[in-house]
Amino acid sequence: MSSVLTVRGGVPLAGRISVRGAKNLVPKAMVAALLGNSPSVLRNVPEIKDVEVVTSLLQLHGVSVVKDADTGDLTLDPQHATTASSSEIDAHAGDSRIPILLCGPLIHAIGEAFIPDLGGCKIGDRPIDFHLNVLRQFGAVVEKRPGGIHISAPRGLQGAKISLPYPSVGATEQVLLSATRAEGITELIGAAVEPEIIDLIAVLQKMGAIINVQSERTIRIEGVKSLGGYVHRALPDRNEAASWASAALVTRGDIFVQGAAQRDMMTFINTFRKIGGGMDIEEDGIRFYHPGGKLSPLVLETDVHPGFMTDWQQPLVVALSQADGVSIVHETVYENRFGFTEALSRMGANIQVHRECLGSTPCRFGQRNFRHSAVISGPAPLRGTEIDVPDLRGGFSHLIAALAATGTSRVTGIDVINRGYERFTDKLAALGADVDLSTSSGV
Ligand code: EPU
Repeated sequence: MSSVLTVRGGVPLAGRISVRGAKNLVPKAMVAALLGNSPSVLRNVPEIKDVEVVTSLLQLHGVSVVKDADTGDLTLDPQHATTASSSEIDAHAGDSRIPILLCGPLIHAIGEAFIPDLGGCKIGDRPIDFHLNVLRQFGAVVEKRPGGIHISAPRGLQGAKISLPYPSVGATEQVLLSATRAEGITELIGAAVEPEIIDLIAVLQKMGAIINVQSERTIRIEGVKSLGGYVHRALPDRNEAASWASAALVTRGDIFVQGAAQRDMMTFINTFRKIGGGMDIEEDGIRFYHPGGKLSPLVLETDVHPGFMTDWQQPLVVALSQADGVSIVHETVYENRFGFTEALSRMGANIQVHRECLGSTPCRFGQRNFRHSAVISGPAPLRGTEIDVPDLRGGFSHLIAALAATGTSRVTGIDVINRGYERFTDKLAALGADVDLSTSSGV
């Protein structure tokens, strides 16, 4: 049985919704609790698939995870951490990429880790070579085993001088989660500095870690012998907030996103303003709306923070398909994040994807056969169609295109959207979307 969303388009989304803790921080803060010797409390936890996956994985390893029925806050107690069987770990890992981040904390807690082959969104190869190299530099022994990898550290993890070839979010988190309790000092050069990483550093500092974020993407960590628990409120999900902002533009709507935080979204806000989106920045959130009239095209390149986030790109491309003129988007973080434009073209959008770098940001994909630049001409009327959700942000983009389109769309595979958008069908209903959720036997 799978869920099917029927979308009757053409209704502007209007109303108020709220975003809670960031998908790209909460599961990692849960993993950090494993490093402590006393319970931690995490607040502002969204009900999303990645949180379920990490809850199961932690429970399998003997960590008690208790959810407060009223607030949804999680209390995580790692005091009885233990080994788990590789088949059980495999069964619970789902298609998340978070399990790789359990390596350092599990080695500190129980001396070894088994990580099943990973999933995650289909937006390129998504290798884990940076992670494994980092672990080896800490002195870990990485062995390929059937269905995954086994990691151990016969002499414990040792601080190291590590230089990342690209400011990877996950590899930076791998270093932080491994180095805080490693012996000696770790210096990380070429670190990612996304707000979610700074929030993870805040979590670790509350636990007793000594971490300095220096200039030029350098982070210095002085290993400590033990860490305690934390009480932390997760920073809000800026990617979900930006997705709803694009939904407001695409559907000519008006959405107040409670919890959207200006400080973490400055680059997005500048771009939204240049397209001609309307905005009121309030203390408790941001109102995003289509002010009427034409939207302006623009030239855009995705980049690591503080650049324009790759996760904002896909929903914004739908908005650009409705702007008056030609826009160019150069994706420099993932080699294959324009696959979703094929369905948009079927719906009537005018988008060509190219192998060449159409921008000046240095990028690893030029001349390597990856279609990573897009030229979008608008405005193009959209019509409803059959859609099978390809990945998290691509799926949300298809959905907002369907909401703006004339006619009816049938969207399958919407469970993928639950990985990162909390109760999104309830939110659509609250915004006045004309949608029905049903289940199909898939025959
Ligand atoms: N990369 C490698 N080798 C590695 C790791 C990464 O080559 O071992 C490459 C990737 O293939 C990619 C680039 O480095 O081309 C950046 O990847 P990064 O490690 O920064 O991404 P991630 O940690 O796997 C997180 C988010 C993504 C978000 C990126 C970039 C989580 C769970 N995921 O992924 O979120 O796009 O950072 O900001 O935090 C999403 O929310 O839709 C999403 C995909």
